[in-house]
Order: sequence, then structure tokens, then C-alpha cells
Amino acid sequence: MFYDYADSGSWTESTYRSNESDLAAMRLRQRVAVNLESRITAATILGEPFSMPLALAPVGLTGMMHADGEMLAARAAHAAGVQFTLSTLSICSIEDVASAVARPFWFQLYVMRDRGFVEALVKRAEEAGCSALVVTLDLQVLGQRHKDIKNGLSTPPKPTLVNLLNLATKPAWCLGMLGTRRRSFGNVVGHVRGVEDVTSLSDWVGQQFDLTLSWDDVAWLRSIWPRKLILKGILDPEDARLAVASGADALVVSNHGGRQLDGAPSTIRALPAIVDEVGSAIEVLMDGGIRSGQDVLKAVASGAKAVLAGRAAVYGLGAGGQTGVSKALALIRNELDLTMAFCGHTDIGQVGRDVLLGDPPQ
Ligand code: GLV
Repeated sequence: MFYDYADSGSWTESTYRSNESDLAAMRLRQRVAVNLESRITAATILGEPFSMPLALAPVGLTGMMHADGEMLAARAAHAAGVQFTLSTLSICSIEDVASAVARPFWFQLYVMRDRGFVEALVKRAEEAGCSALVVTLDLQVLGQRHKDIKNGLSTPPKPTLVNLLNLATKPAWCLGMLGTRRRSFGNVVGHVRGVEDVTSLSDWVGQQFDLTLSWDDVAWLRSIWPRKLILKGILDPEDARLAVASGADALVVSNHGGRQLDGAPSTIRALPAIVDEVGSAIEVLMDGGIRSGQDVLKAVASGAKAVLAGRAAVYGLGAGGQTGVSKALALIRNELDLTMAFCGHTDIGQVGRDVLLGDPPQ
């Protein structure tokens, strides 16, 4: 059920698929006889230096893909010189991750009805040294994901016959889980009265998430969060303008990995109009469909300052723990470097629309 949770979109999954297929359909312009010595994939995101223009996206239930998953993924990300974003819906808590890494990470926030809890969560992120707050704006209601319903997704899994039979085929996962105390929503359980028994994501969203979320709340968050503010879930130029007006430092062009509005455009399609709309008034990041170094290059060439990747790292985590995430990041960085070179560039900072053939995806 946790693999299905990661590898799924909402309803027909058309947006989920188009995030990947629109990137795959883009053609790159090969150049030759260019001096390819001393290549640079390093990039700066919101003033912080990284080894490439990529950060790990927040992914709920990461600690169910592998025991202590968020702590392991954060360690692998930092060792690779990229940023890690912790989801509100994580298994390991903000404090767990802070204890696992030596440098600041980013914290993704869902705005819940209980503003006292939201304020306390923001304070916890500040005290843990998080350098950016990533506020997700596209999940007041949850897109319907058929596989999660079929599987009865919950954390920890309920001891039904089907689940027990399934667990029996995954002894390594079970041993890992038996070896950790982190098996439910670590940022919430024990911090909010009455949510001790919320094990289902859909119940939690239904009960706790704020349907009234508005730009006034973004202004409120801006006023209580002193560091970098990133707004995630922007897919429309008009909302991008409002994001600039809110005083946020960055926005993430995102359709939530195709998990929310099925039928929304892929993010690589939505990106150029948003970049044209906001210019350099705000840093524009993008997520959705990033599985390879070529995808990173295509997004950067289309105007993204950097990308966020969720599934690419989470698949590595599920397969091989911290080593798996390190491997996934190394593969992406290597492919980014070589593809950049084939396109006749030596510095990712200089890559623009010139490396793309044809019009941007429509
Ligand atoms: C949560 O953010 C989800 O997409 O499941």
C-alpha cells in the first residue's frame, strides 16, 4: 500500500502520467566540438548553495517506505549536497530529522483548522533551524486516489488478513519497522489532543485541514515566519502574481505530482507562462515528473530555477534505504552533467531555452 501511495495520481491519473510524458516528449539540441572541461552543475536556491538545481520534495509517509525514512533521506540528500524537505505528513518528526542532520532543512506546512497547532508547528520548524517554510496551497481537499481506497491505506497498516499476508512477503521491511518507534504521523501524534488515533490520511485531511485557507493566511504565515517562504502548488499565472504580491520568496509550479486535480496541465506545460508572468520577481521552482537528470535539465531550460523531486528519491529509499537515495541522487546528477555537456554547456547556470528544440509543450 505504501508503494501504491507513492506511485499513483488521482482519478484517471492523466495528469500524473502527463507530468512524465510531456517531459519525455521534449527534444534536446545536441552541440559538438565545445570545450567540456570543468563542468558545473552547482546552483543556488534562495541564497543557499547546492550541488545541483534539485531538492527533495516533501513526501507524506516517507517513513513508511523504509523505517526512519525521513531521517535517512535527509542524510542522503545533505551528503549529496541537495536540500531535503520534510512533509507535515511525515512519520519522523521535525525534531527527529533535526537530530539526524547537521544542516538546516526545509519544512513543508499544511494549514490546519487549529491555528494554535499550526503556529506551534511553525515555531517547532523555526527552533529546529529549518531555513525555509514550504506552504502547500493545493490540498485543502484530497484528490481521490483509487489505489489508496482499495488498499485501505493507513499508518501503521491495519492487521487485516490481506495486510498480514502481504507483510509476510516483506520480512526486511517488517524487521525495520519493528526496530523503530516511528510508525505514525510524528509531527502530530502526541502534539494535538484528539488525534492520537488518526491513522488514515484521508480521515486526517477531512478532519483537520482548513477549507477556508486563503491569501490572508499566507500573509499571516509571512508575518510569523522570519525565514524563506516558499508557496507550493501554483499552476496558474494569476495565482503566480498573487504569490509575488504575498511577499513569498519562491513559488513551486506544482500539480502535487498529479495527485490532486486530475485534468490539470503537466507542470512542464504550465511553467513557461508562469515564468513569463513573474520574471525575476520571485524564484520559480517546479516539481512533477522529475525522474532523471534529463528532466532536471529540461525544467531548468524551460525557466525553473530548480526542481523538486519526490518519487525519484522515494523509490530509491524503498529499494535501498539511505544508500538507495544516495544512488538515485548520484544517477540524476551524473545524467544532468552529461546531458548538459551533450547540449554544449558547461555550467547549468547558463542553460536556457536554447537547448530545447521546438516549441514548449502546449
Ligand atoms: C500528500 O501530500 C499526498 O499527496 O498524499
